[in-house]
Amino acid sequence: MTTNSKSGFNSSFGAIMAAAGSAVGLGNIWRFPYICGKYGGGAFLLVYVFFVFFIGMVLMMSEFVIGRRTRMTPATAYSALRPQRPQWRWVGILGLLTSFLILAIYLVISGWTLNYFWESVTGTLASVSNTGFEAHFNHFASSPVRPIVFIALFLACTALVVIAGVDKGIERVSKLLMPFLVVLLVLLCIRSVTLEGASAGIAYLFQPDFTKLTGEGILAALGQALFSLSVGMGVMIVYGSYLPVDDNILKSSMWITVCDFFIAVLSGVAIFPAVFACGQTPTEGPGLVYQVLPVVFNSLGGIGHIVSIVFFLLLTLAALTSAISLLEALTAWLNERGMKRVVSALLISLSVVVLAALASLSFGDGKLCDLHLFDFLDKLTGAYLPPICAFLTILFFGWFMKKEDILDELSNHGTLKVGYFKVFYYFLARFVAPLALLTVLVAGIVG
Ligand code: PHE
Repeated sequence: MTTNSKSGFNSSFGAIMAAAGSAVGLGNIWRFPYICGKYGGGAFLLVYVFFVFFIGMVLMMSEFVIGRRTRMTPATAYSALRPQRPQWRWVGILGLLTSFLILAIYLVISGWTLNYFWESVTGTLASVSNTGFEAHFNHFASSPVRPIVFIALFLACTALVVIAGVDKGIERVSKLLMPFLVVLLVLLCIRSVTLEGASAGIAYLFQPDFTKLTGEGILAALGQALFSLSVGMGVMIVYGSYLPVDDNILKSSMWITVCDFFIAVLSGVAIFPAVFACGQTPTEGPGLVYQVLPVVFNSLGGIGHIVSIVFFLLLTLAALTSAISLLEALTAWLNERGMKRVVSALLISLSVVVLAALASLSFGDGKLCDLHLFDFLDKLTGAYLPPICAFLTILFFGWFMKKEDILDELSNHGTLKVGYFKVFYYFLARFVAPLALLTVLVAGIVG
């Protein structure tokens, strides 16, 4: 397979930061903590660890291999590796379509987050009474103009980074933001666990309760593992195509996975102890971040104002590096078809902002259009499309790609040893991951 001289990440560290930036996002900070608590804390965590390291990480490795081997986007990589069966390219195209839909819904939530960051800075949020946050959120999210303005602002930042390029934009921004994000998160954790009554939150998050770990919980764990690692839709194929030639793919995949996992757990540690210490109960979805947490911040007194700013900044930045990867994947696709990077990025941005605006207008009680688009997209991109794409990807990798090609890529053309670890991961990709994904998919459809 040819490797051409297209732009890419300058170093393994930069690549890891960029991919970790894609992985760490709203999924970690917002979604992971509440599903972990909901489905049995420590019990859920056990299943989640298995899915993350034995399925999610396998997919990440596979996507990196496909990407770096071909230096192409998902739309062309599959058929380049398997020219006899060009139909495989539909898997890549389905993945890109999924990325487009995820980006739309992601923008809506990121727009809310940016607005809350702004309201924290200006003090608007602090002036809302503790009983008023639900109404405050509903009023904002279902109003016609303001959410869309924030969506557009957020998207503009995302597009600027993508237009700046892979190394000068994405890599540089990720190398700066990711360490900063960890510092912010650790500060929040320290504040949270040192509050009086924090232990109830720790117990909620970690104490195993196997009665709560239902079949639905197991499905949720898999969906969350895939979503959180940004695997299944081909985004990591695109990032894989930018990996340096001497990058140790399996090692990088492991670092990214470990980083994503710990940031998810730390987010739970930052959120739940504070929620319980302030006498609140955890709720699901938007309620937790936009209605419960503001009450918590208000109850912290003077420092609450700063904590609120830090939290919403953290969430905005985490969402930004994830949105960048989604926009980059789609931009790279048009770019590959001969369109200039700037034009591609702008074209995708313009189309996705329309969908995001429609989704925003269809949200909430006071919604303006009755499409239920938000809920529909949320379901489709949360529960169905990623596992389907992930299953097809791993099937291709394990059964339709040449084993020699895979081992050649994992060993950097023979310069690294093919030890037990690589062989074990190849075994997981061939047997364990496809079977597990198929089981969960069938169970999901039947159930
Ligand atoms: N992994 C991101 C998160 O946890 C979401 C994402 C999914 C980003 C797919 C890119 C591709 O929020």
